[in-house]
Amino acid sequence: MSSLTVTGGRRLSGEISLQGAKNSALPILAASILSAGETVLTNVPALTDVEAALAILRHLGCRAEFSDGTVWVDSSTMTGWDIPDPLMRRMRSSVVFLGAVLARTGQAALSLPGGCELGPRPIDLHLDAMERLGAVIRRSRGRLIFRAPRLQGARIDLRLPSVGATENAMIAAAGARGLTLITNAAREPEIRDLARYLTAMGARIGGAGTSTVTVEGGAFAPIVRHRVIPDRIAAATYIAAVASAGGRIVLRQVCERDLTAVNDAFRQMGVCLCYRCGTLVAAAGERLKPPLTVTTRPYPGFPTDAQPPLMAAALRARGTSAFVETIFENRFRHVPELVKMGADIRVDGQVARVFGGRPLHGAAVTAPDLRGGAALLTAALAAEGETTIFGTEHIMRGYEDIDRTFRALGVNVKRDERTG
Ligand code: UD1
Repeated sequence: MSSLTVTGGRRLSGEISLQGAKNSALPILAASILSAGETVLTNVPALTDVEAALAILRHLGCRAEFSDGTVWVDSSTMTGWDIPDPLMRRMRSSVVFLGAVLARTGQAALSLPGGCELGPRPIDLHLDAMERLGAVIRRSRGRLIFRAPRLQGARIDLRLPSVGATENAMIAAAGARGLTLITNAAREPEIRDLARYLTAMGARIGGAGTSTVTVEGGAFAPIVRHRVIPDRIAAATYIAAVASAGGRIVLRQVCERDLTAVNDAFRQMGVCLCYRCGTLVAAAGERLKPPLTVTTRPYPGFPTDAQPPLMAAALRARGTSAFVETIFENRFRHVPELVKMGADIRVDGQVARVFGGRPLHGAAVTAPDLRGGAALLTAALAAEGETTIFGTEHIMRGYEDIDRTFRALGVNVKRDERTG
């Protein structure tokens, strides 16, 4: 188990470029197999989840190379349709390969992803969408086998605006015959990015970024180039970091529009956020106000992924705030770890009350999941003394070069690969 050791108490200062969005890169990599051609994807973050996606592509018979932020995929050589259990388990979002594999080969086999750190993660909406498009699903020894010699466009009414199910439905529909209508679709910026990629490939997509999306397949281009959008959750994390530690940082390549709810919450705390031409200057002084009540919601609401880092920043604000988690059942697992650092947080079901302004001290803590790990890092910046965060493999799933990035912002952080 690797660890990060952070010495707290130093104000942040420095300039960084924001990484590309993990949650855009993953579905686009899955969609790259639709065309039986080449994709050149730029602004791809170097993350273990991206490596897992490339491993799946290679397992399916594609050629995939990653160098210096650019992924090149050639899916003309693809023959596979079965994603084995170890590859499925490496990354929960592997399920987003389902629609692409099915559309390309007429069949697919994968294991049920099961629960994860955030609680049960059902995929019923993904399965319903595939059935609506004409797939026949069979269960065999814990595996799901899908068959659909030719997917046919259909109406898909999602019970919830699931991000992954919307993406899977859009990808499968782009490889189907005829028109697909998706209602109650997720509206996240990553959906818009996927739509842009599929459009560049040759699909006709309407309404991406709204609740009603239409998709029509077309003749696919032999080569598609696409640049991944900036990572809004990484941006929210660095804003939380400067709120927690104080200081002033410059973030390059940020999209202000994607961060509206996040900006509102941090501005309410007294963090100064100034956007200009894709660059953000974020500054926080000694005194912060609590963010009062923050309720996580599907986009354009406050993102569940930014809840843990915001909560960690709220520890420094004198006063009480409430965090209401409505997306995942188990999204307060960072709380007991923050309590080890001196935080006063009380959880009751899906509500966490934060009594801010207590002094934080360094401790040995363990990242419970990706964004929970980011929360521990955020709190460590404001803590007196050294905090060692174990389980950093969770953090590496979503933050590129996290220790180097924080060092560029003036943080004293050491990474130890040998711990444990
Ligand atoms: C994506 C993001 C993740 C983010 C989440 C919510 C990626 C790779 N991951 O995950 O970082 O936290 O959106 O913004 O983009 N649900 C069902 N049945 C389904 C699918 C989902 O009940 O078939 C439920 C989930 O349990 C959850 C809610 O819907 O309670 C939202 O999940 P969803 O939007 O699907 O999240 P992901 O796409 O997995």
